[in-house]
Amino acid sequence: MINMSQSMGIRINDLDELLNQFSITLRNHSRRVAVCSAIIAEYAGSFMNIYDLPSGTSLPVIAHLGGTCHDIGKLMLPALDANNDDYFKHPAMGADLLEKHKAELFGNEPYSQMVLDIVRYHHEQTDGGGFPEGLEARDIPLLAGICAAANELDHLMYSESGLANNGAGVYEKLKGQAGKRFCECVWVCIDRAWLRLIERYMTWNSFANFYDAE
Ligand SMILES: [Fe+2]
Repeated sequence: MINMSQSMGIRINDLDELLNQFSITLRNHSRRVAVCSAIIAEYAGSFMNIYDLPSGTSLPVIAHLGGTCHDIGKLMLPALDANNDDYFKHPAMGADLLEKHKAELFGNEPYSQMVLDIVRYHHEQTDGGGFPEGLEARDIPLLAGICAAANELDHLMYSESGLANNGAGVYEKLKGQAGKRFCECVWVCIDRAWLRLIERYMTWNSFANFYDAE
């Protein structure tokens, strides 16, 4: 467990390095979720009024930031054990931590709240069965749903020993979670992005050493 209670100047690269010190597996997972979230978010413009976005940013950029930070709350857990009750606190702990350091991390950019929402709600489910708040459907920010789907994709595609799947069967498994784990809009984005997502996993696998994989 890393003590981050002291006030310190931190940046996104520092969060990546903190994740690396804590667990290279978690760091690499966060990087893959960030890239996949950004790819999926490229197809999300038709489901959001992008003209409401703060100027100077885009859905993929915010999605990437959220993916990088999504599990940062795990740094404050005593153990990385999904069966431990503390595990269910990590989304809120992560969002609260980022809130505290918002100025250093995001320079108080207006989109910072969208990043925090990704972190806080990336384990919510559109059927209401998620945590920490049990939100349903449209109460869950779209980018949080995209992060949830990217998170699930990564768990299906990658194991601690490397690429665990060539994509066969994963498409159907994810499709089966549309309307349950994440909303149908997110599935439409994944469907459109599918070949790019799988191609990216193959690239990571080919350049495993370069990528500093587990
Ligand atoms: Fe998580």
